[in-house]
Amino acid sequence: MATFKTVRGMRDLLAGDAEAMTFVMDKARETAQLYGYSEVITPVIEPYELLSAKSGEEIRSRMFTFKDLGNRTVALRPEFTSSIARLASTSLKNEPKPLRTFSVGSVYRYDEPQRGRYREFYQADFELIGTSNPVADAEMILLTDRLMKAVGLRDYAFKLGHIGIIRGILSQENVDEKTQNAILQHMDKKEFDDAFKLIKSEECLSTLRGSLELKSDDVFKTAEGIKSHVEGYCKAADSAEELKNVLKLVTEGGCPIQSVEPVFARGLEYYTGMIFEVYIPELDIALGGGGRYDKLVELFGGEPTPATGVAHGLDRIVLAMQIQKTTPTRERPKIVAVVPVNEALKGEALRISQILRAAGVRVELEVMGRKMNKALEDADRRKVDFAVIVGERELKQGAVAVRDLAKREQTIVKIADLTKTFKI
Ligand code: HAM
Repeated sequence: MATFKTVRGMRDLLAGDAEAMTFVMDKARETAQLYGYSEVITPVIEPYELLSAKSGEEIRSRMFTFKDLGNRTVALRPEFTSSIARLASTSLKNEPKPLRTFSVGSVYRYDEPQRGRYREFYQADFELIGTSNPVADAEMILLTDRLMKAVGLRDYAFKLGHIGIIRGILSQENVDEKTQNAILQHMDKKEFDDAFKLIKSEECLSTLRGSLELKSDDVFKTAEGIKSHVEGYCKAADSAEELKNVLKLVTEGGCPIQSVEPVFARGLEYYTGMIFEVYIPELDIALGGGGRYDKLVELFGGEPTPATGVAHGLDRIVLAMQIQKTTPTRERPKIVAVVPVNEALKGEALRISQILRAAGVRVELEVMGRKMNKALEDADRRKVDFAVIVGERELKQGAVAVRDLAKREQTIVKIADLTKTFKI
């Protein structure tokens, strides 16, 4: 039979990588607890119609879509937000607001594989549903800031914008929604010339081109500048005011924003308000991003329900940690190898292992039936801390030999006292 490789864009995460990934997942879960988000687990496969409704052309065209054996058109989720909006419009619709949900797991997009871009990747997703208060938007950025700090990243920077600025201008110029979406998709990819080609009104063009020039190092000045620049477009001006409010709140919350972008779009189509992304200087791909989506729950048949959220790209966070050489500071538990001196004692060795595990000690039982010396050599190689040697002579006295493999010292310990010896 042929040997197999993983499917293109799919990866095996082996020991070190899997450990780094679960470290970041643990930090995301810890952040969810700190901020009061309840974990929900939703299916990887959802109806295509649900996932594609407002995902935007770019993501829609990259979904893993197929017919199941019941002839339903389904897809692997490319993100979590649609699933959570489905919940908010069905099972969770009568829950008191605000609703704070947290999800973590794999998502799928048929992106071109490269460093930091995979076809199966992991996200931590936070959604805050039921309020249009800008303090909820600020919370998305602040919890992202907390996660970045918790995994030890430095010099990360937030980019903040508001989708209502461009949409406000385009709507007032009677640009239909489909064309607006196409323009925003181009802007998301920084293809400004292609975006501008789709705009007919000269006034609109000069306002948008002028917006590109508004960036200054002082983010408050940029936000104020946007507001006066779009004065003639009332919805855009309201959006600029909202952007200023979020900026102020995040800053008051102790998290500096490095850039405010007047012309900023994100791939997903459901955004209606503030949008943001977080980067480190060494990578030009975002580690996370989110924003306000006030119409999605309603689109899925729920009550009009404002909402905001963020998803963090966990693979990219792991990559950023490697680049910045921030090693996970998880304490490694002591490892104990339990080795019977002969095969006849393997039942005893098993019994002692169970006593230790019940007390929370990490035990690796010798299962290869190797001779004592070979088993100890192997334990050394795998950086085991202690070996518990189960022999007849010691057992008669209710004891075992405990060898400290680093110090190369051996003592006899009563089985009743064993757990105390390894208490971490
Ligand atoms: P997104 O910006 O599409 O937003 O994805 C969030 C993060 O997932 C990105 O910032 C990036 O770190 C990571 N990511 C995206 N594509 C890939 C890929 N091919 N390989 C590795 N990592 C990737 C969302 O998914 C929205 N659901 C966020 C949100 C939640 N908005 C409101 N609520």
